[in-house]
Amino acid sequence: MSPSHCVLVTGGAGYIGSHTVLQLLLTGYKTVVIDNFDNSCQIAVNRVQELAGDRAVNLIFHQIDIRDKAELKKLFASTKFDAVIHFAGLKAVGESVQKPLMYYDNNVVGTLTLLEVMEAHGCKKIVFSSSATVYGWPKVLPCTEDFPLSAASPYGRTKLMVEDIFRDIYASDSGWKMIMLRYFNPVGAHPSGYIGEDPLGSPNNLMPFIQQVAVGKLPALKVFGTDYSTKDGTGVRDYIHVSDLANGHLAALRKLSDPEIGCEAYNLGTGKGTSVLEMVAAFEKVSGKKIPLVISGRRPGDAEVVYASTAKAERDLNWKAENGIEEMCRDQWNWASKNPYGYQSK
Ligand code: NAD
Ligand code: WQD
Repeated sequence: MSPSHCVLVTGGAGYIGSHTVLQLLLTGYKTVVIDNFDNSCQIAVNRVQELAGDRAVNLIFHQIDIRDKAELKKLFASTKFDAVIHFAGLKAVGESVQKPLMYYDNNVVGTLTLLEVMEAHGCKKIVFSSSATVYGWPKVLPCTEDFPLSAASPYGRTKLMVEDIFRDIYASDSGWKMIMLRYFNPVGAHPSGYIGEDPLGSPNNLMPFIQQVAVGKLPALKVFGTDYSTKDGTGVRDYIHVSDLANGHLAALRKLSDPEIGCEAYNLGTGKGTSVLEMVAAFEKVSGKKIPLVISGRRPGDAEVVYASTAKAERDLNWKAENGIEEMCRDQWNWASKNPYGYQSK
């Protein structure tokens, strides 16, 4: 896969999608984005266009739901796609426990619909947004791609199911080339501060919570558990800058041209574990803001420590994360301070 090829990006208006679309455009790919704006908005697409400058002519957007087979068929009939990067889906773990049907419909039925239309049009190259959640509660570390897989929530099960569907499809037809990227904990924003994460409704993850405390929307950060057997008792995760993650997708796209590639999973993380308190300290340092803390009990379902082995991605994709915690917090704060209300004005 090389620039000048045409890539379909589902969920490309979202957090990781928008950063990846920008990288695709700047690298020279023709990029068609579809999104139903369930957790994003048109402004994100407009801002990607602005950041892309002259290359924005290579971006086409359609407001389409991936479960709408008729619309997908029309799109594939009108455009020849060399590959698909599939981000579209719902991602809130807690919500998936409350509304499992909505998650299975969006994430599993949506993906099946997309795969059916791809197959019908002879497009058999796909990069999929999987998640470190498929490692469940890892017993040993770092997580390598050959670990046993499990899921601790309906959301996690949708990722596991889609991975299994991919493996079954490939076993039936080796003409497919399928890469499953298992993201660890994406944070940060484009260094311009012009695009970033803007979750609709209340946030679910640590960084958006810290951000909301920093801009005065929330009074304090709840620390979920201080009694883990970690360096300071708080949970440890592998945070990865969203720009590094975006570049990981370009590396995966290039890999799809390798005649040897079949159906493979790759971790996208940094290989380093950071505790909640370390993350807070790093954010306070770059922002100059004090983040008041409220010590709470453990959040049900949380793992103690999770971080990636990055050896397989480094070796096969020739990709490595470049940014550390400080850059992640710096760019998160840059985005937050320039856009305290996200993409909406007050
Ligand atoms: P996001 O919510 O910002 O982006 C997802 C996009 O998909 C949104 O723009 C949303 O409007 C769109 N979408 C949802 N359902 C759709 C549908 N049926 N049809 C068309 N568009 C639809 O989330 P993100 O953080 O950018 O995550 C992207 C992908 O990466 C998701 O599949 C998510 O599960 C996965 N992932 C995210 C994380 C994370 O922590 N952010 C970690 C691991 C995996
Ligand atoms: C990180 C650490 C919390 C919020 C989730 C999904 C996973 C993946 C990434 C999609 C933990 C602690 C958090 C807060 C806190 N998403 N925390 N106070 O749980 O690693 O993973 O997002 O695939 O599937 O499960 O990320 O950001 O929620 O939590 O103390 O207000 O921060 O306990 O130790 P997590 P997170």
